[in-house]
Amino acid sequence: MTESPSARPRALRATFDGEPIEAPAGASVAAALLASGRTSWRTTRGGAQRGLFCGIGVCFDCIVDIDGESGQRACMIPLAEGMKIAPAGSCAAGAHAAAEAAAGAAAEADGTPREGRA
Ligand code: FES
Repeated sequence: MTESPSARPRALRATFDGEPIEAPAGASVAAALLASGRTSWRTTRGGAQRGLFCGIGVCFDCIVDIDGESGQRACMIPLAEGMKIAPAGSCAAGAHAAAEAAAGAAAEADGTPREGRA
């Protein structure tokens, strides 16, 4: 049996830090980043790598900049054709600090120690 082209999910193309990435329609930005082989996509001020952790919008570890908007949770945003995604803090001065503050506030709220995160 041959699969019709219309039965396959449409691939969406975007960029991360200028590099092409793609994923099927319906995938999150985080899923597209993982599919591209990335396991982390931002670095804390202390030098720790961060990427997908909770996957449900709670921890803020996955923050990226998308089309000039800083502090976007990659696990909660569906990939869209032509999106320009960048590591957190790439699009505006001080955005990295804002992402760190948001992540710290989320960790403080749930009592999760930051040191133990992947
Ligand atoms: S992975 Fe936790 S908010 Fe996205």
